Formats: sequence, structure tokens, C-alpha cells
Amino acid sequence: MGSSCCKTGEIRPSMSLQLERSNSPKNLLNNKPDVTTEKIMDHSPMQRTIMWRQGNLIGEGVYGKVFQAMDQDTGELLAVKIIKLSNNSETAEKQFYLLSQEIELLKSLRHINIIKYYQTDISMDSKCVNILLEYVTGGSLRDLLMKYGRFSENIIKNYVVQMVKGLVYLHSKNIVHRDLKSANILVTEDAVIKLSDFGCSRKMENGDVSMSIKGSPYWMAPEVVLQEGHGSPSDIWSLGCLIIEMASGKPPWSEISNKASDIIKLISMPGRVPRIPELSDDLKDVVKKCLNRDPSLRPTAKQLLLHKCIANYSMSTSHSYVSKNSTNGWA
Ligand SMILES: Nc1ncnc2c1ncn2[C@@H]1O[C@H](COP(=O)(O)OP(=O)(O)O)[C@@H](O)[C@H]1O
Ligand SMILES: [Mg+2]
Repeated sequence: MGSSCCKTGEIRPSMSLQLERSNSPKNLLNNKPDVTTEKIMDHSPMQRTIMWRQGNLIGEGVYGKVFQAMDQDTGELLAVKIIKLSNNSETAEKQFYLLSQEIELLKSLRHINIIKYYQTDISMDSKCVNILLEYVTGGSLRDLLMKYGRFSENIIKNYVVQMVKGLVYLHSKNIVHRDLKSANILVTEDAVIKLSDFGCSRKMENGDVSMSIKGSPYWMAPEVVLQEGHGSPSDIWSLGCLIIEMASGKPPWSEISNKASDIIKLISMPGRVPRIPELSDDLKDVVKKCLNRDPSLRPTAKQLLLHKCIANYSMSTSHSYVSKNSTNGWA
């Protein structure tokens, strides 16, 4: 999977497709041969179908390639994530189903720290899905770490406050990100954080805890590796891992091994937690609390906003995320 299915510079006639929850991938792929011409989704904030032209490759992930794109009506720059579906119909159905989950999630989200989603085009002819997103100029945290090396504590705090704010929003909607890592966190040129790539996310209905393993091993919580369930506390563990990564420039555990199977073994070992790099006591305390092996003892995203490290930083930079007097036991 991964190669683009349209040429750079080609104007894309947008066939915006609405994915009805009740439509199984089988219905869409097999029983509706005319699906490529059917207009079944348009939830762009602009209330119009975006005609776009594909530009340069700006990123590549596990599931697809991301290109810059230009809105042919306004000149606005966008990002388009192009995901090639398998030629094998059965696999394509599964991939399409997973993507439709991602799209359903993105549709409902409106928050400054969450990537904005505009439109989805599905081309059944070339078997690819194009997801139009807001273009985030700075790229991912991973890119920034590679370019500039590990971050200062002030940068870490600035980013963490915003990540936590995004998580408060997601978790309040019973959405667990499930794949929080530096490559899935984007940064604007004004240092605004955008949580992105909800490909592994799953809407959790009424506290239902998914038992499946998804995501990347370095940032995985023990309960995920041990297949004991995956809820919002698993994102909090990943946040702790992200702070370690921002402070050291490398993902947790990577000083011990680079093999996924070794990392999974390490995380499974009772009592093991990643090594915490040199940090102020305040920030170290946040990391320690996020990396409690017992998910029920980790702070929630809301509680983290009230941790004095985060609350003090928010106030000193006049981001009024939290109330001054309330520490809720996490400070
Ligand atoms: N909206 C965007 N604006 C700018 N760069 C992006 C955008 N979305 C993704 N990228 C870049 O593309 C990479 C892969 O995107 P991602 O959504 O994580 O794909 P995958 O699902 O394949 O992992 C990111 O790490 C980032 O560098
Ligand atoms: Mg990704």
C-alpha cells in the first residue's frame, strides 16, 4: 500500500462520498458498481465540493502518502492523504471499512488542537481514497525533532498543554486516539498543536473497552500490549512517552532496543517503566503520573490540565485553560 493513484498537478474532480454508518464495505464495493459517480458526502465547512490539484509529497505514514494540494476555487493550500486500497477485493473491503471509521470520526470533530477535515473522495476505479485535510505548515513533531533535536522544557510545556487540551476534547466525546506518537502530531508555524491521524482511533461507546492491539509499540501502554483493554488512560500513557521523546529526541525504550518484539516484551514486564530523561521536578512528576502501570491510577486529561506544571505554564502564557485555585489532587 502507499503509492499515489493520481499524478501530481492533475486537477481532481471531487467525488465526495458520504459513508453511511449502515453501509458495509461489501455494499459499497460490490453491490454498487456506479459508486464512483454517486455524490454521497459533502460536509466541507464551505458547503461546496472542493476541486483540488495535487502538489508535492509532504509526508508518508503507515497507511498512506500525504501531498500538498491547492483548492482550485480559492487558492487555499490543503493536505491530501491518499490511500491506495489493495487490488484484492477482500482486503480492499477491510481497508475501506477501516477508513470509513476514520472518516466518521473526523467528520464530527471541531477543536483547535484537532486536525480539520474537509472532504473525502473515493475513486473506486483506481481503488484509492483521498482525504482532504487542513494543511499544517510545520509538519509533524517527529519532523521537528529530526530537524532541531530535542526540545527545551518551555517548548515541551507549550506542546503538552495543547495536546492535553485536545485529549480533553477527544475523551469527552468518548474517542480514544490509540496511536499518539510524534509522527501523528502536527504543528503549525505558530506552534499550534494538531492531533492527527485517527486511523487507529475507535469511538468508544459507553465505556466499552476495545480489546484489540493497534498503534506503535514504543508509545503503547502495558494494558494495550497485554491485551487487557484500551481506554482513554492508554492515551495518557502515550502522552508520557511523548514527553520523554520530546525531551530526549528519541522514543522511550529506544536506548534498550529498536526491535518491536523486544519493546513489546519490555512493556509487558511487571513493574517496568521507561527511563525518564533529565527534566524539572514538575514535568518529571507529570511523566511519572502518566506512566503509572495501573491505568486506573493515571490522571485523566482533565486532571492533567490542573497539574501545577501545566496550569502554571498556561497562566504564565495567558492561555486560560484552567482555573487558578483548583488542583484536584494532581498538583
Ligand atoms: N494535514 C497535514 N499537513 C501537513 N503534513 C501532514 C498532514 N497530515 C499528515 N502529514 C504528514 O504526513 C505524515 C503521515 O501522515 P499520517 O496521517 O500519520 O499517515 P498514516 O496514517 O499513513 O500514518 C505525517 O507524519 C506528517 O509528516
Ligand atoms: Mg500516522
